[in-house]
Order: sequence, then C-alpha cells, then structure tokens
Amino acid sequence: MKAIAIYSGKGGVGKSTIAVHLAHLAATRSARRTLLWDLDAQGASTFALRLAPRPGLSARRIFAREAEIADQALGTDLPNLDVVPADASLRRLDTQLAEQDKKGRLKKLLRALGERYDRIVLDCPPSQADLSEQIFRAVDLLVLPLLPSPLSLRVHAMVVDQVAAQRDGKLPILPVFSMVDRRKSLHRDTVASRPEWPTIPYSSDIERMAVHGQPVTARAPGSAAARAFSDLWTRVERALQSSRD
Ligand SMILES: Nc1ncnc2c1ncn2[C@@H]1O[C@H](COP(=O)(O)OP(=O)(O)OP(=O)(O)O)[C@@H](O)[C@H]1O
Ligand SMILES: [Mg+2]
Repeated sequence: MKAIAIYSGKGGVGKSTIAVHLAHLAATRSARRTLLWDLDAQGASTFALRLAPRPGLSARRIFAREAEIADQALGTDLPNLDVVPADASLRRLDTQLAEQDKKGRLKKLLRALGERYDRIVLDCPPSQADLSEQIFRAVDLLVLPLLPSPLSLRVHAMVVDQVAAQRDGKLPILPVFSMVDRRKSLHRDTVASRPEWPTIPYSSDIERMAVHGQPVTARAPGSAAARAFSDLWTRVERALQSSRD
C-alpha cells in the first residue's frame, strides 16, 4: 500500500480537484484498490462524488480509535474506489491531535488498511498544523499543487523545509502547477521556469466536476484536461516506484 497526500498550506489551489482525479485514475487506469479519505471538513471531494457522511461517522472517533476507519468507507459507482467522507468533527481535529499527543496515529491508521487497499489518497485541509505533521509522517508521497506565480516557488521551498524538518528529506514531493491559463504570460513564464513540473490546465470541464458529480477523467477521458491528469498520475506512480523501500 502506498499513501499519497494532496497537500498545500494554502487554500483554493486545487487540492480536492486533484485528489478526486488521482483517486479515480488509481482505481481505474491502474486498477488499484483505492481509498480516498476526505480530511477537510468542507467536504469538497465528498461533495464532488455526490457522497454524504454516513450517519454516526466521525473522524474524531477514528482518530480516537473508537471506530474502525475501514467500517466508515463508502463504495462509489466507480470501480475499485471507496471514500471516507468528510464530517463536521474534522474541524476540531487539530485540537484533538494536540490533546492526544500520538504523533504517529495517522500513520498507524493507514498501515492498518494495507491489506484492503493498494493506494490511499488524502485530500488535506489547507491549515491544520498537527494534522499536517501527521500527514508528513504517514505518507509515501506529497503532491503539492501550486498556482503558477513567483510566490508558488516560495511556497514550494517552505514545504520542502517543513518536510525536511519532519522526515529528514525522505518524503518525496511532487509539485504540480494547478489551474494553468496559458493565455497569461505570468503563468507561461512561471511554468517555463520549472519545465520538469507537471501542469493541470485551467479548464471549465474540470471546474464543473461538482455539477456532474464525476471527474473529467470519467466523463471526458479524451479531453486535454483528462490527459493532463493522466500524465500527472503517471508521474505519481513513477515517484512511488522509485520511493519503494
Ligand atoms: N484546473 C482547474 N480548472 C478550473 N477550475 C478549477 C481547477 N482546479 C480547481 N478548480 C476550481 O477551483 C476551486 C478550488 O479548487 P479545489 O476545491 O480543488 O481547491 P482546494 O485547494 O481543495 O481548496 P480548499 O483549500 O478550500 O480545500 C473549485 O471551485 C474548483 O472547481
Ligand atoms: Mg479542498
């Protein structure tokens, strides 16, 4: 089992969108048994897949080890894809984690799912310090969506530093330019400054995911947007192979 976090300290950069698409491709194109865990109380990826929390589901109870995460996963219409939906208790998860003082809790929860899933994709909230630390310890790869501006290069450097402090630089980070609009010279120039980083275009097809309740990789697999996610997924799998212990 390999765990992938879609993480950024910043809000609104495309984390949930990328999380849903990567989970879909893991499940379909790679035929991996895949779990998408929505760790953001706002529930963007839960909503995008037309799911709602199970009555009684609570991340608080999962992290307190009062409930089994595997019992909280919902199946989806998509083959091989299960989802642990978001619920309101995630809002106070950071306080809970600080009180519990079990820094490896998320890592243990994920490892326990190793028999059931091949890939676990975490849709991370923008700012929860204790949860972020647990995520850095728990996953095999961090996918870091960045808006194409010079600021994003600083955000990347900061995340590299944060991760180095936690994992001694042993956690691979895959930066990805998100919402790239090639009509804008700032976007073109920023992307050209890091030609090796993958890109996801700004696309109304992608934006409409929540309207259709389906990722663009399912609805329009031949579209440019779907191809960009496919290329990103290939890069993710390659990074996971080379991180194999
Ligand atoms: N490539 C894209 N093209 C067009 N719109 C996009 C793209 N990626 C994301 N969006 C839109 O931008 C908004 C923010 O995206 P998303 O929710 O994925 O970001 P996020 O980083 O998860 O945000 P938050 O920090 O609030 O969780 C959404 O309305 C989404 O539909
Ligand atoms: Mg989100």
